[in-house]
Amino acid sequence: MSLFGQPFTAKCLKSGITVEVQEGQSLLQALLDAGIPMDYSCEGGLCGTCVVPLVSGDVEHNDEFLMDDEQETRMITCVSRANGVVELDI
Ligand code: FES
Repeated sequence: MSLFGQPFTAKCLKSGITVEVQEGQSLLQALLDAGIPMDYSCEGGLCGTCVVPLVSGDVEHNDEFLMDDEQETRMITCVSRANGVVELDI
């Protein structure tokens, strides 16, 4: 599992903010840098604190927290990434 990969884009629908996640950066960090308030704890994909509602996107779920059926509607921002554009309900 690699925590860092290709850059991708996160559209935050509620806040109207679009975040570009760089290859050496987590989505969590990009959201925090953009001023979006985020709760987090382990930063290792284990605790689930940093979860966000997922609207659409091709997500690479790198966490150990979400169940298979949860992966369609949620995303763990500290370790998971996406291909292209992901839409989040935050
Ligand atoms: S901060 Fe624990 S899963 Fe992301």
